[in-house]
Amino acid sequence: MPDVAPLLSHWLQREWPHAYGKERADSVVESIQNYDRMPLCLVAYNTGLVPCGMTAVVEGTTPTGDPVALVVTLYVEPAFRRSGIGVALCRRAVAEARRLGWHRIGAYTVDKEEFFQRLGWQVVMPAIIPSNPPARRHVWYVEHPEENDHAHSLQACA
Ligand SMILES: CC(C)(COP(=O)(O)OP(=O)(O)OC[C@H]1O[C@@H](n2cnc3c(N)ncnc32)[C@H](O)[C@@H]1OP(=O)(O)O)[C@@H](O)C(=O)NCCC(=O)NCCS
Repeated sequence: MPDVAPLLSHWLQREWPHAYGKERADSVVESIQNYDRMPLCLVAYNTGLVPCGMTAVVEGTTPTGDPVALVVTLYVEPAFRRSGIGVALCRRAVAEARRLGWHRIGAYTVDKEEFFQRLGWQVVMPAIIPSNPPARRHVWYVEHPEENDHAHSLQACA
């Protein structure tokens, strides 16, 4: 299979130029090699093995500075959107963070808070992230509901 890394790096630099220069994009994409540690990059392929989307899970912090596994770089190529790939990537990112032992999972989003809400995530608070060139970017901090885990484990015990 051809090396997918340059394509993923290209997606990141094109979609989020303020956040991903080549070096930072390449370093996220390199984590496609990782399995047992973060950062962890995930790629979605269609049935013809064409790469059509990506996401990554990284160690980060909440707006209040607490450690959290962050779902970042959730991206689906326009031609493949609205067929469930974004939802599948997001769910898989949560599952991978859980597998690596993280209970608290969040994300920062400029305008996709409703997408996360429809998946059961909660909008926690507005936040500001630094960007380059300097400009204060307003985003939402959203979080996957941790208590669902407890509910599931209680059911499993019952
Ligand atoms: C956000 C993004 C990743 C979603 O990817 P996607 O593959 O289109 O997501 P899905 O198809 O799983 O879900 C998107 C919508 O399509 C709907 N959908 C899913 N399957 C569908 C189908 N077969 N037919 C029609 N609609 C469908 C979903 O219900 C969802 O509805 P919503 O827009 O009301 O939430 C994509 O739009 C993207 O890459 N955007 C640019 C980058 C970005 O903003 N990323 C988010 C960073 S936080």
